[in-house]
Amino acid sequence: MTYEERYEGYLSLIEPALKSCFGEKRGFPFDGLLEAMDYSLTAGGKRIRPVLTLEFARLCGAAAGDVLPVSCAVEMLHTYSLIHDDLPCMDNDDLRRGKPTNHRVFGESTAVLAGDALQAEAFGAILRSGLPAGRRARCAEILAGAAGVDGICGGQYMDLSAGERAFSADEVRELQSRKTGALLSAACMLGAAAAGAGEEMIDAAGQYGAQLGAAFQIRDDMLDVISTVSELGKPIGSDVQEGKTTFMTLYGEEECGRMVERITGQAVKTVEHMDRDGFLSELARRMAVRRG
Ligand code: IPE
Ligand code: IPE
Ligand code: MG
Ligand code: MG
Ligand code: MG
Repeated sequence: MTYEERYEGYLSLIEPALKSCFGEKRGFPFDGLLEAMDYSLTAGGKRIRPVLTLEFARLCGAAAGDVLPVSCAVEMLHTYSLIHDDLPCMDNDDLRRGKPTNHRVFGESTAVLAGDALQAEAFGAILRSGLPAGRRARCAEILAGAAGVDGICGGQYMDLSAGERAFSADEVRELQSRKTGALLSAACMLGAAAAGAGEEMIDAAGQYGAQLGAAFQIRDDMLDVISTVSELGKPIGSDVQEGKTTFMTLYGEEECGRMVERITGQAVKTVEHMDRDGFLSELARRMAVRRG
């Protein structure tokens, strides 16, 4: 099976599963909230996190159908983080996944609640899945780590302070590993944990995800400068406009390119003993040169 066939195969499971999460009206006064959640969750995007969850689960011997709720959970959590990231009090952006941002369509208060609810429902999806109780608990613990102070919230807090004063390279590395690396790392760990793999395997999955995440966010910072709105589906120049210190402001395009290449090489090396047909290596290499 080629890389494309496997990726498409995963998408054909993930997209309908995400559509069925909140797509149906329930005839209640809170249908508007469901609509806002569904709007962002089904707006597209690369779906790299749920794909990683399903691939690590496969490598650890689980059936995709059993792990699908966990892969949806990680995409719900990611989508919540994007809705909040775009709010006027954060990055103040109007376009996401090629569509107007959640708050531009539904208003700020609904966007905040849609994000809140997606975060809670992510944990609900894991805890209601048919996996054995011990695996569900381990998965919830992993996701909580990536969402809280050691993950997205801590990283986003640092990121917003990076608009107020210049950050050092170490500080930028730290904030990026929290705001982006933590969830990509968790996505990989979740696949292994949902499949009942041992801690050594879960650790290796987490290390690959963290390295992938480091390269991914540097590339994201590059794309904010060198890409186009139509390729990216989100605004360009947002970081400069908000006065953020990023790897681009610290090192410039060429050096960032070299860093992405080097860290991607490390990620590939981390999984060389388990990446039987090269899917994870190929995914890392493609993310390193992505345009959107
Ligand atoms: C965007 O993530 C936010 C970052 C962590 C850089 P993605 O680039 O994975 O966004 P989608 O899911 O494809 O829209
Ligand atoms: C986002 O970082 C990280 C999140 C936790 C959402 P960015 O602010 O750089 O992401 P984009 O560029 O808006 O997607
Ligand atoms: Mg941001
Ligand atoms: Mg942003
Ligand atoms: Mg960005």
